[in-house]
Amino acid sequence: EEWKERGAAVATRQEVDQNGRPVSKIVKKGVNDFHFGRTLGEGSYSTVLAATDRQIHREYAVKVLDKRHIIKEKKVKYVNIEKDALNRLTEHPGIVRLYYTFQDERSLYFVLDLANGGELLGHLKKMGTFDEECTRFYGAQILDSIAYMHSKGIIHRDLKPENVLLDEQMHTKITDFGTAKILDIRSRPQDGGGTGNDGPGAGDPMDGVEQERAVSFVGTAEYVSPELLTDKNACKASDLWAFGCILYQLLAGRPPFKAGNEYQTFQKIVALDYHFPDGFPAVARDLVERLLVLDPSKRLPIDHIKAHPFFDGIQWGKGLWKQKAPRLR
Ligand code: ADE
Repeated sequence: EEWKERGAAVATRQEVDQNGRPVSKIVKKGVNDFHFGRTLGEGSYSTVLAATDRQIHREYAVKVLDKRHIIKEKKVKYVNIEKDALNRLTEHPGIVRLYYTFQDERSLYFVLDLANGGELLGHLKKMGTFDEECTRFYGAQILDSIAYMHSKGIIHRDLKPENVLLDEQMHTKITDFGTAKILDIRSRPQDGGGTGNDGPGAGDPMDGVEQERAVSFVGTAEYVSPELLTDKNACKASDLWAFGCILYQLLAGRPPFKAGNEYQTFQKIVALDYHFPDGFPAVARDLVERLLVLDPSKRLPIDHIKAHPFFDGIQWGKGLWKQKAPRLR
């Protein structure tokens, strides 16, 4: 198989030529440029390790994927989707950024932003529930990140509190784009078209590795949108369904649709069978009810969500990412 990596110029090194004249050589980062440390997480196809750039002493999270295992389990497509999606999403503080990709004989390496605070789910479990102010702040950061990825033609398709990481400042960073849907660039005229350059780490890590088309992807049961279950089709509004589930979960301490098994969870979703616990704030209830709508075309669009009274007081845009996170309550 071929695991091509288009030569991405990521750093220069000053050297001298035969005549003693200084020349700057372009060098690509590789495994040996990092000192690997603690394990941050383990998935079925990857391990995430903390690693420090030996030159600039900056710490990253490096996702290490075993090539043989990925090929054997027919996951090549998902690895490429994750890389392609992340390469479109390099300019937003709320999304884990991909800095470099490289490989050795055994593994592929994705060098990512380190999010030291762990998963939002862990913090929610520790707290039980979040109060309205915390839910407003974390909800706003997640929504701002969704707005950005949708503007770049990426649908996440598996948004859930496990895939929302927190950094040192307790700001959110969305991760895990392996199951994203990448929309055709031509369907985004507001964007002015692509440049054809998808930035550092461009190229297909598994070019030439043919794999069968996977059956249509279904995300995590509790956050799956009804249109995915009935039409097997996800759209941007599917992420907003998941966002409604997350808002509900932050305030209620559990997702709205939960049952003993996946099939029963799906039955509840398509029947819109959920209830609000006593004490659920009325203004948040109004917003969640406008998101958990079976017809995706009738779900509140992002600009209306931002203008909803639940988000009153939120400073949208760059200011949201300069704000101090509220203490968890
Ligand atoms: N676990 C998985 N991805 C991570 C990241 N980017 N930072 C910290 N822990 C992680």
